[in-house]
Amino acid sequence: MSIENKVIDESVQGEAILYPVKDKQAINGKKLYLESYGCQMNFSDSEVVASIMSNQGYETTRNVDEADIILINTCSIRENAELRVRQRLTDFKKKKDKNPDLIVGILGCMAERLKAELLEEEKLVDIVAGPDAYRDLPNLVEEVGTGQKAVNVLLSRDETYADISPVRLDQGGISAFVTIMRGCDNMCSFCVVPFTRGRERSRDPESIVNECKEIFEKGYREVTLLGQNVDSYRWNISSKGEIKDQNIPTTNFAQLMERVALLSPDLRIRFSTSHPKDMTDDVLIVMAKYENICSCIHLPVQSGDSDVLFRMNRGYTREWYLERIAAIQNIVPNCAITTDIISGFCGETEEEHKNTLSLMDLVEFDFAFMYKYSERPKTLAERRFTDDVPEDVKGRRLEEIIEKQREFALMSNKKQIGTVQKVLVEGFSKRSSDYLCGRTSRNSMVIFPKLSFQKGAYVMVRIDSCTSATLLGEATK
Ligand code: 5AD
Ligand code: SF4
Repeated sequence: MSIENKVIDESVQGEAILYPVKDKQAINGKKLYLESYGCQMNFSDSEVVASIMSNQGYETTRNVDEADIILINTCSIRENAELRVRQRLTDFKKKKDKNPDLIVGILGCMAERLKAELLEEEKLVDIVAGPDAYRDLPNLVEEVGTGQKAVNVLLSRDETYADISPVRLDQGGISAFVTIMRGCDNMCSFCVVPFTRGRERSRDPESIVNECKEIFEKGYREVTLLGQNVDSYRWNISSKGEIKDQNIPTTNFAQLMERVALLSPDLRIRFSTSHPKDMTDDVLIVMAKYENICSCIHLPVQSGDSDVLFRMNRGYTREWYLERIAAIQNIVPNCAITTDIISGFCGETEEEHKNTLSLMDLVEFDFAFMYKYSERPKTLAERRFTDDVPEDVKGRRLEEIIEKQREFALMSNKKQIGTVQKVLVEGFSKRSSDYLCGRTSRNSMVIFPKLSFQKGAYVMVRIDSCTSATLLGEATK
């Protein structure tokens, strides 16, 4: 089974990250081990955390055994994600039992959801810090030193960490994430995010554009603008659409993206995540205007049935979604369209499930993340509906969704055979250093012989063959 079509639960895969210490500041002789789970936003937040800790003189390590402090940035989106983190915390607890000076902190969505629970009931951790509390981490570490309970789970209406320059994951890298907004006001009934990440707030466009410029000057060639719902990015515009301060220019997402696109034609721009109810033609028109804005939209549909979408509180119908797909295809021809799908949401009938399959036939998604519904505490769905689709039915429906998606992923790649694609080289192919890998504007991975091309270069590649996960080709010159 190809990676494209697996039941992908990215939130369950953790990654230990080595963040370089910023030069100049004093090193305090202590080592930080930082592990991240979940969405791109969490990985981006971990870069902010690394920056804050490195300003305190912490060096990062990939070896958990030499750490003085372990921080784990967590995800609550599905139950599996939390179970995995609990397992990791149990592993760390064994280390703590052997070394009482070791500090363990939990960050992110699970910290926000469980608050002091982990600290009090199980004594698994010393620090609990929610997504808006990272500036407070140095104080929290100090509090642990004085034997106090170190908890900060206050959610903020305005924290965007705009002034904190993130320590990049991979120095000398090609692709970077830039957070443009935080939180979510949507209240999809299945989703825990509005409870764990708080209210929506946008980051000052100047700080975003400056960060993208700095990244480009450091040699990066791609930025992904991140937000839970990028289409509701707005600066100096109220949620009712009114100008807040006449003396400051207003900026919406389309305008922000245009500013970033104008920094350099050699800087590629991606963004995630769009919301079908908010995605405007303005954004599509800007995408079509700039070659360096990648032709790829992630537009989570969740279900192809209007009644399920209503119960999910998504704010659109099947027809509305299909109209937005038609708009993408009209305005940005050849744009890749990717999605998220949930199987077995509360009350989902066989017919409603079939509507998801038939929507997939109509859209022919290039890629999809596919999940079984997982009930989350305190969400609207948990309070209003019964999680009544049996596990085996959820599983069978998910299989049907995955099976269909597998065909479309392969079809999508086959259509590229014979075309010439502009590929941004990311590095060596995993299998052989005689080959390079990189992505097309549509976000397909391409493998081709290295010749004398370097990481960070744009190479025109003729596509000769494919699997459902990868395109294979040769440079045309
Ligand atoms: N159960 C299953 N999938 C979920 N997602 C969000 N909440 C849940 C849940 N409770 C999925 C949605 C969303 C993606 C990030 O995770 O498809 O778009
Ligand atoms: Fe969750 Fe919906 Fe907000 Fe996405 S838009 S984070 S699914 S509430």
